[in-house]
Amino acid sequence: MKTIPWWQTAVFYQIYPRSFKDSGNDGIGDIPGIISKLDYLVSLGIDALWISPFFKSPMDDFGYDISDYCDIDRIFGTMQDVTLLIEEIHKRGLKVIFDLVINHTSDQHPWFVEARSSPDNPKHDWYIWQPRTDRETGKPRPKPNNWIGMFELTNAWRDNDATDEWFLGTFTQHQPEVNWRNPDLKNAMYDVIRFWLDLHVDGFRMDVVNWYIKDEKLRSNPFSWRVNPDIFQKHIYDRNQPETHDICREIRGLTDSYDGSRVLVGEIFVRDVEIAASYQGNGNDELHLAFNMEMLYIRWSARVFAKTIARWYAALPGSGWPNFTFSNHDQPRHATRFGVRNEDHQLARMQIIAMLLLTLRGTPFMYYGEEIGMKNVRVPHSEMSDPSGKTFWPLPLGRDGQRTPMQWSSAENAGFTESGVLPWLPIHKNYREVNAEKQQADPGSLWHWYRKLLAIRKTHEELRTGRFSFIKKGKNSVLAFRRAGETGLIECYLNFSNRKKRVGLPVDVQVVLGNFRGEQEKLPAGRLELAPYEALLVKI
Ligand code: GLC
Repeated sequence: MKTIPWWQTAVFYQIYPRSFKDSGNDGIGDIPGIISKLDYLVSLGIDALWISPFFKSPMDDFGYDISDYCDIDRIFGTMQDVTLLIEEIHKRGLKVIFDLVINHTSDQHPWFVEARSSPDNPKHDWYIWQPRTDRETGKPRPKPNNWIGMFELTNAWRDNDATDEWFLGTFTQHQPEVNWRNPDLKNAMYDVIRFWLDLHVDGFRMDVVNWYIKDEKLRSNPFSWRVNPDIFQKHIYDRNQPETHDICREIRGLTDSYDGSRVLVGEIFVRDVEIAASYQGNGNDELHLAFNMEMLYIRWSARVFAKTIARWYAALPGSGWPNFTFSNHDQPRHATRFGVRNEDHQLARMQIIAMLLLTLRGTPFMYYGEEIGMKNVRVPHSEMSDPSGKTFWPLPLGRDGQRTPMQWSSAENAGFTESGVLPWLPIHKNYREVNAEKQQADPGSLWHWYRKLLAIRKTHEELRTGRFSFIKKGKNSVLAFRRAGETGLIECYLNFSNRKKRVGLPVDVQVVLGNFRGEQEKLPAGRLELAPYEALLVKI
């Protein structure tokens, strides 16, 4: 029998460590906090964790600005805590991937501190520089091009007085981009990868992979009408350069040289799924998985969902493997994006998303708190942390709202930290109703819906690896598809509308799970009326 790699059948759960569980009572989540909640994750039924950065960092971008790749920020714990975390995760039969942020470092990273000190410093060329003064005429030069610093809405070329140069920083001014064309820098980054693989990390989520290499001629980007997230530029020169694929192949070779079971998941920061898919190379030589970001932007429409899913499957290389996610730390939570006032409808919509995520062909990635339907918090300007939130205010583009503390219980501070402590971001005021403890005690809750779906995936091979075909591509608000495996056949019917809808069942079926029907119930062939927002999984 063909062995299937674990990352194709696993369900991943993303943890934003600042917000998961605070064990030190300073209002910020930490590694021991995560360890204390591993059994919770096991009881839910997830298989693997992606943990956002907890490395040494001045926190200008809350950990996505790293000043030491091989040490832990004291806010989160110690190196010992992290080795214990890996051990405890593996002890429970789970896997774990870390965040690999190697497009840029922090400006506090010793590499950059050295690099910026003098043009003759051996590390100078580890970053990307342009002279501010014309060396022949002695006159000031214009900025090299129109590339944007995304989080500050400024030009991305930043002053460095010591060398009379600009360095490139396309996020904040504190995140200088490294020069991937320099072989020593490349080797230093590969050492970082080895460091963590040697500590038995099961792989990486790779931050903004498609930004690694920039146009050699530093040409300006042309205009685009797309605002979010492209900010009026077609990023043809500062992203997606062909040489990036060489780096992906090298990193793949490096991880494969371990034991072939480590995984690379790329954040390809684009909405064009074809570009995202291209980072899987021929399906076996670049990244194992690439995120499809479009899923984080689309609106509530069965047709749009069907179109996006179909396009994603079509874009992937023959032996490539899909993955799906509806929420992460950069985009508003889907409970808010797809939110409605009516509480029953809200629950049913979240059940639809959960069923979709966990029954499509591809590796599902959940975001902490989605299992209880956590919503975005409207963080007031005075309490904002996210640099992009402050820049774009009052436009609601900040990311604090989706990063608020996990709602564990109805205790003060939602059980995230002790009462009396001020959490680093405000907790949603719905926490007394929406929390893990309460939902675990209620068999009709969203938490139990996720748990059941996760269990069903484990016992139904067709959902993990079976073929996929559409039954209904969103016409009349119904999205339906079939998963056919070696041993079983499952169909999924999702009614995206708040009205009843009719579908036709070609044969008799049995309910596996439904939000309006009893499990095991038999449904005869013929007309089937779906309730408003019904999510139904049936077995043939
Ligand atoms: C990625 C991360 C985001 C971060 C940015 C810069 O998009 O997901 O959180 O701010 O890269 O590292």
